[in-house]
Amino acid sequence: MSDTAAHRTEREDFQATSDPGLLESADRGEVKLLSYTELYQLWERQQWRTQDLDFSQDRLDWEGFPDDEKFQRMYGLSSFFIGEQKVAEELGPMMRAAPTEEMRIFLCTQIADEARHVAFFNRFYEEVGVLESTNLQDRLEETSAHLNPKFHELFDELLSSRVDKLARDPGDLETLVEAVTLYHMVIEGMLALTGQHFIITYNEENGTLPGFVEGFNNVARDEHRHVAFGARFLREMAQADTKYADAIQRMLIESAPAADGVLQPPWYEEGMDLFGVSLDETREFAMKALQRRLKVIGLAPVAS
Ligand SMILES: [Fe+2]
Ligand SMILES: [Fe+2]
Repeated sequence: MSDTAAHRTEREDFQATSDPGLLESADRGEVKLLSYTELYQLWERQQWRTQDLDFSQDRLDWEGFPDDEKFQRMYGLSSFFIGEQKVAEELGPMMRAAPTEEMRIFLCTQIADEARHVAFFNRFYEEVGVLESTNLQDRLEETSAHLNPKFHELFDELLSSRVDKLARDPGDLETLVEAVTLYHMVIEGMLALTGQHFIITYNEENGTLPGFVEGFNNVARDEHRHVAFGARFLREMAQADTKYADAIQRMLIESAPAADGVLQPPWYEEGMDLFGVSLDETREFAMKALQRRLKVIGLAPVAS
């Protein structure tokens, strides 16, 4: 791991989230997860504003990138921009289906975070001049040309079907467990945090897009807090009844092909470097974080 990446994950505000993916002690299954109320209080302390970010150097950097680099960067940017918009809009029925008030209050804060993440990308695109479009709706549509089909499978089939089911029947806890597994463990925990880690590291090492890096670090810190909620919820559910532990395992297996597909840009060719790292390195990073979280949830063997 590079110095800058190590420095980031060891930052006090990142560690404060208690996301097992960040903590070595999770390898031994030993992590004190925050309570839902503590997660809410941390949210109050970890506020930030997209309007404070200065993208003037980012605009100059973007104008200087060769066309093929701009094109390659668009896969990650588009996946995040549209991914944030989709998760913001799917979280309402999950919040309503959560069984306690403390969980629902935390998930309300998460809806606000996901909205802020959409606003962050929208402002970056606007200030940097990434696309021709001049409003949020049109930007989302224009940038969607860069996605791959697995992205739609993950969000529009796997996630949407669970969330639609929860909207019809908010008392269906097993479906909520599946939805949280997919949303917090797979989409946020494995995919978003892996993409963020490598994109931030690449830009830090190359001294590019400083406004974007500053904002994306804030997004990553928010995601660790969200994943910490997911780990706590799934641990409680898995301990309450084996049918929920089974639902977690089932969802991880069912979503694995689509999740792995999202790690590969549509233009990827065997052996290619993805902004300084191999596809296998990104897979390893995602799997290591998932394993740590599963150990803390109680669904993977721990090192002695
Ligand atoms: Fe987000
Ligand atoms: Fe999130």
